[in-house]
Amino acid sequence: MYQKISVAPMLDWTDRHCRFFHRLITRQTLLYTEMVTTGALLYGDVARHLGYSDAEHPVALQLGGSEPQDLARCALLARDWGYDEINLNCGCPSPRVLRGAFGACLMAEPTLVRDAVAAMRDAVAGEIPVTVKHRIGIDHEDSYGFVRDFVGTVAEGGCATFVVHARSAWLDGLSPKENRAVPPLRHAFVLQLKRDFPQLRFILNGGIQSNEQLREWLGKVDGVMVGRSAYQDPWMMAQWDAEILGRPIAMPPQREAVEEEMCAYISDWKIQGLHPQSITRHLLNLWKGQPGGRLWRQVLSDSKLLSTLSAPDLFKVAREARLSAVCDVDLPEDQQLLTSACV
Ligand SMILES: Cc1cc2nc3c(=O)[nH]c(=O)nc-3n(C[C@H](O)[C@H](O)[C@H](O)COP(=O)(O)O)c2cc1C
Repeated sequence: MYQKISVAPMLDWTDRHCRFFHRLITRQTLLYTEMVTTGALLYGDVARHLGYSDAEHPVALQLGGSEPQDLARCALLARDWGYDEINLNCGCPSPRVLRGAFGACLMAEPTLVRDAVAAMRDAVAGEIPVTVKHRIGIDHEDSYGFVRDFVGTVAEGGCATFVVHARSAWLDGLSPKENRAVPPLRHAFVLQLKRDFPQLRFILNGGIQSNEQLREWLGKVDGVMVGRSAYQDPWMMAQWDAEILGRPIAMPPQREAVEEEMCAYISDWKIQGLHPQSITRHLLNLWKGQPGGRLWRQVLSDSKLLSTLSAPDLFKVAREARLSAVCDVDLPEDQQLLTSACV
Protein backbone atom coordinates (compact mmCIF):
# COMPACT_ATOMS: atom_id res chain seq x y z
CA MET A 1 0.00 0.00 0.00
CA TYR A 2 1.39 3.41 -0.87
CA GLN A 3 1.67 6.07 1.80
CA LYS A 4 -0.45 9.18 1.38
CA ILE A 5 1.67 11.31 3.67
CA SER A 6 5.45 11.60 3.55
CA VAL A 7 8.21 13.59 5.20
CA ALA A 8 10.39 15.32 2.62
CA PRO A 9 14.03 14.55 1.89
CA MET A 10 16.05 17.28 3.59
CA LEU A 11 19.82 17.42 3.35
CA ASP A 12 21.50 17.51 6.75
CA TRP A 13 18.12 17.10 8.45
CA THR A 14 16.47 13.77 7.54
CA ASP A 15 19.37 11.51 8.39
CA ARG A 16 18.78 8.10 9.96
CA HIS A 17 18.54 9.52 13.50
CA CYS A 18 15.96 12.08 12.48
CA ARG A 19 13.95 9.40 10.70
CA PHE A 20 14.11 7.09 13.72
CA PHE A 21 12.74 9.93 15.83
CA HIS A 22 9.98 10.78 13.35
CA ARG A 23 8.98 7.15 13.13
CA LEU A 24 8.22 7.13 16.85
CA ILE A 25 5.62 9.80 16.20
CA THR A 26 4.08 8.48 12.98
CA ARG A 27 4.10 4.87 11.82
CA GLN A 28 2.02 5.15 8.66
CA THR A 29 3.96 7.65 6.60
CA LEU A 30 6.79 7.39 4.14
CA LEU A 31 10.11 8.81 5.34
CA TYR A 32 12.69 10.01 2.84
CA THR A 33 16.45 9.99 3.22
CA GLU A 34 18.52 13.04 2.46
CA MET A 35 19.65 13.14 -1.15
CA VAL A 36 22.57 10.76 -1.71
CA THR A 37 24.59 11.29 -4.88
CA THR A 38 25.54 8.46 -7.19
CA GLY A 39 29.19 9.48 -6.75
CA ALA A 40 28.95 9.09 -2.98
CA LEU A 41 27.48 5.61 -3.36
CA LEU A 42 29.68 4.33 -6.16
CA TYR A 43 32.96 5.68 -4.81
CA GLY A 44 32.26 6.27 -1.12
CA ASP A 45 31.25 4.49 2.04
CA VAL A 46 28.03 2.69 1.11
CA ALA A 47 27.21 1.57 4.65
CA ARG A 48 27.52 5.12 5.94
CA HIS A 49 25.13 6.44 3.29
CA LEU A 50 22.64 3.58 3.19
CA GLY A 51 22.61 2.20 6.75
CA TYR A 52 19.34 2.60 8.63
CA SER A 53 17.25 0.87 11.31
CA ASP A 54 14.51 -1.56 10.43
CA ALA A 55 12.17 0.57 12.52
CA GLU A 56 12.33 3.31 9.88
CA HIS A 57 10.30 1.41 7.24
CA PRO A 58 8.75 2.43 4.97
CA VAL A 59 11.70 4.50 3.87
CA ALA A 60 12.60 5.89 0.45
CA LEU A 61 16.13 6.58 -0.77
CA GLN A 62 16.51 9.79 -2.71
CA LEU A 63 19.25 9.71 -5.32
CA GLY A 64 21.01 12.64 -6.95
CA GLY A 65 22.61 11.96 -10.31
CA SER A 66 22.04 12.06 -14.04
CA GLU A 67 23.92 9.14 -15.59
CA PRO A 68 21.35 6.38 -16.25
CA GLN A 69 23.86 3.57 -15.75
CA ASP A 70 25.21 5.04 -12.50
CA LEU A 71 21.67 5.56 -11.25
CA ALA A 72 20.82 1.98 -12.20
CA ARG A 73 23.75 0.65 -10.14
CA CYS A 74 22.66 2.77 -7.19
CA ALA A 75 19.07 1.60 -7.57
CA LEU A 76 20.30 -1.95 -7.26
CA LEU A 77 22.16 -1.04 -4.08
CA ALA A 78 19.01 0.58 -2.72
CA ARG A 79 16.98 -2.54 -3.40
CA ASP A 80 19.63 -4.78 -1.84
CA TRP A 81 19.68 -2.59 1.27
CA GLY A 82 15.94 -3.00 1.59
CA TYR A 83 14.67 0.47 0.72
CA ASP A 84 10.98 0.66 -0.10
CA GLU A 85 11.25 3.23 -2.90
CA ILE A 86 13.86 5.04 -4.96
CA ASN A 87 13.31 8.68 -5.74
CA LEU A 88 15.25 10.73 -8.27
CA ASN A 89 15.94 14.33 -7.34
CA CYS A 90 14.98 16.72 -10.15
CA GLY A 91 14.33 19.69 -7.90
CA CYS A 92 17.46 20.66 -6.01
CA PRO A 93 18.69 24.11 -7.10
CA SER A 94 22.01 24.11 -5.18
CA PRO A 95 24.97 25.38 -7.26
CA ARG A 96 27.00 22.34 -6.19
CA VAL A 97 24.33 20.06 -7.57
CA LEU A 98 24.02 22.08 -10.76
CA ARG A 99 27.75 21.77 -11.38
CA GLY A 100 27.21 18.01 -11.29
CA ALA A 101 24.39 18.57 -13.84
CA PHE A 102 21.65 17.01 -11.80
CA GLY A 103 18.90 18.19 -9.47
CA ALA A 104 16.55 20.86 -10.84
CA CYS A 105 18.47 21.35 -14.09
CA LEU A 106 17.36 17.85 -15.11
CA MET A 107 13.94 19.32 -15.75
CA ALA A 108 15.44 20.74 -18.95
CA GLU A 109 16.32 17.20 -20.05
CA PRO A 110 13.15 15.14 -19.75
CA THR A 111 14.33 12.42 -22.13
CA LEU A 112 17.44 11.86 -20.01
CA VAL A 113 15.25 11.59 -16.90
CA ARG A 114 12.95 9.19 -18.76
CA ASP A 115 15.94 7.00 -19.68
CA ALA A 116 17.32 7.17 -16.14
CA VAL A 117 13.99 6.08 -14.69
CA ALA A 118 13.77 3.23 -17.20
CA ALA A 119 17.32 2.11 -16.37
CA MET A 120 16.62 2.15 -12.62
CA ARG A 121 13.37 0.25 -13.05
CA ASP A 122 15.10 -2.37 -15.19
CA ALA A 123 17.85 -2.71 -12.58
CA VAL A 124 15.41 -3.44 -9.77
CA ALA A 125 13.13 -5.49 -12.04
CA GLY A 126 10.15 -3.43 -10.92
CA GLU A 127 10.46 -4.78 -7.36
CA ILE A 128 10.34 -1.33 -5.79
CA PRO A 129 8.86 1.86 -7.25
CA VAL A 130 11.03 4.51 -8.86
CA THR A 131 9.57 7.97 -8.35
CA VAL A 132 10.65 11.50 -9.31
CA LYS A 133 10.62 14.67 -7.21
CA HIS A 134 10.65 17.85 -9.24
CA ARG A 135 9.71 21.51 -9.39
CA ILE A 136 7.07 23.06 -11.63
CA GLY A 137 9.61 24.95 -13.70
CA ILE A 138 13.12 26.30 -13.93
CA ASP A 139 14.01 29.95 -14.44
CA HIS A 140 11.86 31.40 -17.23
CA GLU A 141 10.51 27.99 -18.20
CA ASP A 142 7.62 28.31 -15.83
CA SER A 143 4.52 27.77 -17.95
CA TYR A 144 2.21 24.92 -17.10
CA GLY A 145 3.05 23.35 -20.48
CA PHE A 146 6.69 22.95 -19.41
CA VAL A 147 5.96 20.80 -16.37
CA ARG A 148 3.18 18.94 -18.20
CA ASP A 149 5.60 17.94 -20.97
CA PHE A 150 8.24 16.97 -18.41
CA VAL A 151 5.81 14.67 -16.61
CA GLY A 152 4.48 13.23 -19.88
CA THR A 153 7.97 12.32 -21.09
CA VAL A 154 9.24 10.95 -17.77
CA ALA A 155 6.12 8.81 -17.40
CA GLU A 156 7.17 7.02 -20.62
CA GLY A 157 10.15 5.68 -18.67
CA GLY A 158 7.78 3.98 -16.21
CA CYS A 159 7.53 6.59 -13.47
CA ALA A 160 4.02 6.45 -12.04
CA THR A 161 4.45 8.74 -9.01
CA PHE A 162 5.56 12.35 -9.17
CA VAL A 163 6.32 14.42 -6.09
CA VAL A 164 5.79 18.01 -7.12
CA HIS A 165 7.40 20.83 -5.16
CA ALA A 166 4.94 23.39 -6.46
CA ARG A 167 7.28 26.28 -7.16
CA SER A 168 9.87 26.95 -9.85
CA ALA A 169 13.59 26.75 -9.20
CA TRP A 170 15.39 29.94 -10.09
CA LEU A 171 18.85 28.69 -10.85
CA ASP A 172 20.46 32.04 -11.34
CA GLY A 173 20.81 34.31 -8.33
CA LEU A 174 18.87 32.59 -5.52
CA SER A 175 20.36 30.46 -2.77
CA PRO A 176 18.80 27.03 -2.11
CA LYS A 177 17.08 28.51 0.94
CA GLU A 178 15.64 31.41 -1.04
CA ASN A 179 14.56 28.92 -3.67
CA ARG A 180 12.30 27.34 -1.07
CA ALA A 181 10.62 30.65 -0.30
CA VAL A 182 10.86 33.24 -3.07
CA PRO A 183 9.43 31.60 -6.20
CA PRO A 184 5.66 31.63 -5.72
CA LEU A 185 3.80 28.45 -4.85
CA ARG A 186 1.43 27.29 -7.56
CA HIS A 187 -0.48 24.40 -6.11
CA ALA A 188 -3.02 24.72 -8.92
CA PHE A 189 -0.42 23.25 -11.30
CA VAL A 190 -0.50 20.01 -9.31
CA LEU A 191 -4.28 19.83 -9.57
CA GLN A 192 -4.02 20.39 -13.32
CA LEU A 193 -1.40 17.64 -13.63
CA LYS A 194 -3.76 15.28 -11.83
CA ARG A 195 -6.54 16.18 -14.26
CA ASP A 196 -4.28 15.76 -17.30
CA PHE A 197 -2.72 12.48 -16.15
CA PRO A 198 -5.40 10.70 -14.11
CA GLN A 199 -3.50 7.41 -14.37
CA LEU A 200 -0.44 8.86 -12.56
CA ARG A 201 -0.03 9.62 -8.87
CA PHE A 202 0.77 13.16 -7.77
CA ILE A 203 2.14 14.02 -4.35
CA LEU A 204 1.85 17.71 -3.56
CA ASN A 205 4.76 19.37 -1.78
CA GLY A 206 5.57 22.92 -0.70
CA GLY A 207 4.28 25.27 1.94
CA ILE A 208 2.10 22.90 3.99
CA GLN A 209 2.15 24.41 7.45
CA SER A 210 -0.71 22.85 9.34
CA ASN A 211 -2.66 19.64 9.61
CA GLU A 212 -5.78 21.49 8.43
CA GLN A 213 -4.03 22.32 5.15
CA LEU A 214 -2.68 18.79 4.93
CA ARG A 215 -6.13 17.29 5.38
CA GLU A 216 -7.61 19.61 2.77
CA TRP A 217 -4.99 18.72 0.14
CA LEU A 218 -5.28 15.00 0.80
CA GLY A 219 -8.82 15.26 -0.50
CA LYS A 220 -7.62 16.69 -3.81
CA VAL A 221 -4.38 14.92 -4.72
CA ASP A 222 -2.93 11.44 -4.22
CA GLY A 223 -0.67 12.40 -1.36
CA VAL A 224 1.07 15.22 0.46
CA MET A 225 4.72 15.60 1.39
CA VAL A 226 5.62 17.85 4.32
CA GLY A 227 9.13 19.19 4.85
CA ARG A 228 10.06 22.07 7.13
CA SER A 229 6.87 22.12 9.19
CA ALA A 230 7.32 18.48 10.19
CA TYR A 231 10.94 19.05 11.18
CA GLN A 232 10.30 22.29 13.01
CA ASP A 233 7.18 21.12 14.81
CA PRO A 234 7.44 17.32 14.85
CA TRP A 235 4.40 16.85 17.05
CA MET A 236 2.19 17.83 14.13
CA MET A 237 2.91 14.26 12.96
CA ALA A 238 1.22 12.82 16.06
CA GLN A 239 -2.16 13.39 14.40
CA TRP A 240 -1.31 11.82 11.10
CA ASP A 241 -1.93 8.09 11.65
CA ALA A 242 -5.19 8.03 13.55
CA GLU A 243 -6.81 11.40 13.03
CA ILE A 244 -5.84 12.22 9.47
CA LEU A 245 -5.33 8.81 7.87
CA GLY A 246 -7.92 7.10 10.04
CA ARG A 247 -5.68 4.08 10.65
CA PRO A 248 -6.17 2.11 13.84
CA ILE A 249 -3.29 2.53 16.29
CA ALA A 250 -2.72 0.69 19.54
CA MET A 251 -1.69 3.77 21.52
CA PRO A 252 -1.59 7.43 20.54
CA PRO A 253 1.99 8.73 20.65
CA GLN A 254 3.09 10.40 23.89
CA ARG A 255 5.97 12.84 24.13
CA GLU A 256 7.30 11.23 27.32
CA ALA A 257 7.40 7.80 25.69
CA VAL A 258 9.21 9.22 22.64
CA GLU A 259 11.72 10.83 24.99
CA GLU A 260 12.32 7.50 26.71
CA GLU A 261 12.90 5.67 23.45
CA MET A 262 15.23 8.36 22.18
CA CYS A 263 17.15 8.23 25.43
CA ALA A 264 17.77 4.49 24.95
CA TYR A 265 18.62 5.08 21.29
CA ILE A 266 21.18 7.75 22.18
CA SER A 267 22.76 5.46 24.79
CA ASP A 268 23.13 2.70 22.17
CA TRP A 269 24.78 5.02 19.70
CA LYS A 270 27.04 6.54 22.35
CA ILE A 271 28.51 3.09 22.92
CA GLN A 272 29.38 3.06 19.23
CA GLY A 273 31.19 6.38 19.64
CA LEU A 274 28.58 8.81 18.29
CA HIS A 275 28.32 12.18 20.02
CA PRO A 276 24.77 12.61 21.39
CA GLN A 277 24.46 16.00 19.71
CA SER A 278 24.24 14.24 16.32
CA ILE A 279 20.92 12.88 17.55
CA THR A 280 19.62 15.47 20.02
CA ARG A 281 19.80 18.21 17.37
CA HIS A 282 16.75 16.64 15.71
CA LEU A 283 14.73 16.47 18.92
CA LEU A 284 14.91 20.08 19.99
CA ASN A 285 11.35 20.89 18.97
CA LEU A 286 9.70 17.89 20.60
CA TRP A 287 8.09 20.08 23.28
CA LYS A 288 7.62 23.11 21.04
CA GLY A 289 4.76 25.29 22.22
CA GLN A 290 4.42 23.36 25.49
CA PRO A 291 5.11 24.82 28.94
CA GLY A 292 8.82 24.41 29.67
CA GLY A 293 9.54 23.43 26.08
CA ARG A 294 12.22 26.03 25.61
CA LEU A 295 14.04 25.07 28.81
CA TRP A 296 13.96 21.44 27.73
CA ARG A 297 15.42 22.48 24.40
CA GLN A 298 18.16 24.51 26.08
CA VAL A 299 19.28 21.52 28.10
CA LEU A 300 19.33 19.27 25.06
CA SER A 301 21.46 21.74 23.14
CA ASP A 302 23.89 22.56 25.94
CA SER A 303 27.26 21.31 24.69
CA LYS A 304 28.72 20.95 28.20
CA LEU A 305 25.79 18.85 29.43
CA LEU A 306 25.83 16.82 26.23
CA SER A 307 29.49 15.97 26.70
CA THR A 308 29.41 15.20 30.39
CA LEU A 309 26.08 13.55 31.21
CA SER A 310 24.85 10.09 30.34
CA ALA A 311 21.71 10.07 28.19
CA PRO A 312 19.40 9.16 31.12
CA ASP A 313 20.88 11.98 33.23
CA LEU A 314 20.63 14.43 30.36
CA PHE A 315 16.93 13.65 29.88
CA LYS A 316 16.35 13.77 33.63
CA VAL A 317 17.80 17.29 33.80
CA ALA A 318 15.80 18.32 30.75
CA ARG A 319 12.59 16.94 32.24
CA GLU A 320 13.20 18.72 35.55
CA ALA A 321 13.86 21.97 33.72
CA ARG A 322 10.67 21.58 31.73
CA LEU A 323 8.54 20.78 34.75
CA SER A 324 10.06 23.63 36.73
CA ALA A 325 8.82 26.16 34.23
CA VAL A 326 5.12 25.75 33.99
CA CYS A 327 4.55 28.96 32.08
CA ASP A 328 7.66 29.81 30.16
CA VAL A 329 6.09 29.51 26.70
CA ASP A 330 5.53 33.17 26.12
CA LEU A 331 8.51 34.59 27.94
CA PRO A 332 11.12 36.36 25.79
CA GLU A 333 14.35 34.45 25.16
CA ASP A 334 16.47 36.52 27.60
CA GLN A 335 14.19 35.58 30.48
CA GLN A 336 14.41 31.86 29.73
CA LEU A 337 17.15 31.18 32.24
CA LEU A 338 17.98 27.64 33.11
CA THR A 339 16.93 26.75 36.59
CA SER A 340 19.58 25.78 39.10
CA ALA A 341 18.44 22.19 38.59
CA CYS A 342 20.08 22.03 35.21
CA VAL A 343 23.35 23.90 35.43
C1 LIG B 1 17.28 21.85 4.99
C2 LIG B 1 16.60 21.37 3.73
C3 LIG B 1 17.24 20.44 2.94
C4 LIG B 1 16.60 19.96 1.78
N1 LIG B 1 17.21 18.96 1.05
C5 LIG B 1 16.55 18.39 0.02
C6 LIG B 1 17.05 17.22 -0.62
O1 LIG B 1 18.10 16.66 -0.25
N2 LIG B 1 16.34 16.72 -1.66
C7 LIG B 1 15.16 17.28 -2.09
O2 LIG B 1 14.53 16.79 -3.03
N3 LIG B 1 14.66 18.38 -1.47
C8 LIG B 1 15.30 18.91 -0.42
N4 LIG B 1 14.74 19.96 0.25
C9 LIG B 1 13.43 20.47 -0.19
C10 LIG B 1 12.29 19.73 0.54
O3 LIG B 1 12.32 18.36 0.24
C11 LIG B 1 10.93 20.32 0.14
O4 LIG B 1 10.74 20.10 -1.23
C12 LIG B 1 10.84 21.82 0.41
O5 LIG B 1 11.33 22.14 1.69
C13 LIG B 1 9.38 22.28 0.29
O6 LIG B 1 8.55 21.62 1.21
P1 LIG B 1 8.09 22.34 2.59
O7 LIG B 1 7.54 23.67 2.23
O8 LIG B 1 7.07 21.40 3.17
O9 LIG B 1 9.32 22.47 3.43
C14 LIG B 1 15.34 20.45 1.40
C15 LIG B 1 14.70 21.40 2.22
C16 LIG B 1 15.31 21.84 3.38
C17 LIG B 1 14.59 22.84 4.27
